[in-house]
Amino acid sequence: MLVSATEMLKKAVAGKYAVGQFNINNLEWTKAILQTAQENNSPVILGVSEGAGKYMTGFKTVAAMVKAMIGELNITVPVALHLDHGTYEGCYKCIDAGFSSVMFDGSHLPIEENIAKTSELVEVCHKKGISIEAEVGSIGGEEDGVVGAGEIADPEECKKIADLGVDFLAAGIGNIHGKYPENWKGLDFDALAKTKELIGDLPLVLHGGTGIPADMIQTAISLGVAKINVNTECQLYFQEATRKYIEEGKDLQGKGFDPRKLLAPGTEAIKVIVKEKMELFGSIDKA
Ligand code: 13P
Repeated sequence: MLVSATEMLKKAVAGKYAVGQFNINNLEWTKAILQTAQENNSPVILGVSEGAGKYMTGFKTVAAMVKAMIGELNITVPVALHLDHGTYEGCYKCIDAGFSSVMFDGSHLPIEENIAKTSELVEVCHKKGISIEAEVGSIGGEEDGVVGAGEIADPEECKKIADLGVDFLAAGIGNIHGKYPENWKGLDFDALAKTKELIGDLPLVLHGGTGIPADMIQTAISLGVAKINVNTECQLYFQEATRKYIEEGKDLQGKGFDPRKLLAPGTEAIKVIVKEKMELFGSIDKA
């Protein structure tokens, strides 16, 4: 069932768990994540970056694929199709394409411009029943060529953006995309707690879910994080399983070269890590 992410995240805040956003790259990724959500009776958010949208030949293709797959696979758990780190133009494209949720990432803009564009998009999205995420304090690391410094969001700025009516808010608390460096200082829970105090029950989003230790994830959830984004970890699992298949020479045996066989171990590996994350986030049986 394709829905906005608003209700599922309100429920998550109330129930003190988080819903995973897993980024998709192709048909196999999408299928693996949808099936895992259904098998575990978990709500799920499919994240699509602008780069991944382009790779899959456009947001319309992505929306059509996801909607058809939800039907063909009889997916009854709540599924949100969400633009990840959208530009202003990208948000409008996804709204038109039939996405049920968007993120407007104005974190790199001057706060006044971030506020103006976010307010406009909140109005447009809400008229159409689409949920909208905003970001304050850029998330470090690299994603689709966009490099952020891993800022700690100012809680007062978070409050300003929250008051614009966004449905959930990503606040940088030292989290970064991709693998964490050896000398990473960890998440800034003081900043998270201060933000939570100011914004109340608005769901908070934790980006850069790959490689954050389980105890930090649990503390973050206890402080109001209700959506956790995971991308790199699925890619690493896919890569490792695919490498193993080829290194074992399985592509050279029989019809092992058939793409359906070649991509199967990676697809199964995505299911394993997605289930593990759903267990850690507490979203199993919360559909
Ligand atoms: P990772 O790639 O670090 O898991 O981050 C994903 C993310 O935050 C997508 O917005």
